[in-house]
Amino acid sequence: MRRTLVAGNWKMNASQAQTESLVAGILDAGELDCDIAVFPPSLYLTQAVALASGSHLSVGGQNCADQISGAFTGEVSAQMLADCGAQMVIIGHSERRTLYGETDGVVLAKTRLALDSGLVAVVCVGETLDERKAGDAENVVATQLALLLKELSDSDWDKVVIAYEPVWAIGTGETATPEQAQQIHAAIRGMLAGRSAAIAERTQILYGGSVKAANAAELFSQPDIDGGLVGGASLDVAEFIGICRA
Ligand code: PGA
Repeated sequence: MRRTLVAGNWKMNASQAQTESLVAGILDAGELDCDIAVFPPSLYLTQAVALASGSHLSVGGQNCADQISGAFTGEVSAQMLADCGAQMVIIGHSERRTLYGETDGVVLAKTRLALDSGLVAVVCVGETLDERKAGDAENVVATQLALLLKELSDSDWDKVVIAYEPVWAIGTGETATPEQAQQIHAAIRGMLAGRSAAIAERTQILYGGSVKAANAAELFSQPDIDGGLVGGASLDVAEFIGICRA
């Protein structure tokens, strides 16, 4: 049985004070019937880890380098995230893919390093509006997943979470309908099943794109939606907890 995971991606937002109040607010709500994780900017990771220490809340990084270590000014390695207490890392978010040119090869390299560092890799896939209009959504997602399906071992998949985030629904207030999301989630699970039925059965597939407390229950009730990757709404404790309760 797959657990529901609600993951808050703070993106380049928050401060030390907000890190404190957001984590405190989540902990105050107590344990809920889902796994919860937050992804603060890496500067606030250690602070969030300390605040969440010993609790049910997991903390992760928003990105990691595609190299182990060395002369890569400004980069943060997967090993450093793990060393600072992160348990997870988001990889291949559409903002990384479009604004920073991350290819599927880079996403694979980062995923490999994350897994080798003991982190859970939350790998993002999703189509743009033009790709959806052209009827290409499933093909785009299949292409984004192909290298991972080819290169990762069965045991690697124990530590991989897929986040389906249609680019047109991120930060736009535009949410995929539960049916639209379920359709792609089912397709993704089918792609995983092409690799292994067991992997398909156990891999969590999150939906991301304007998830709010008001639409989370309907999205999460779909058979192949195992939780959400939440951007904007994760910066508001009441909204975020509302999503977790859903
Ligand atoms: P959003 O972002 O919830 O603000 O749409 C989701 C994401 O980018 O992970």
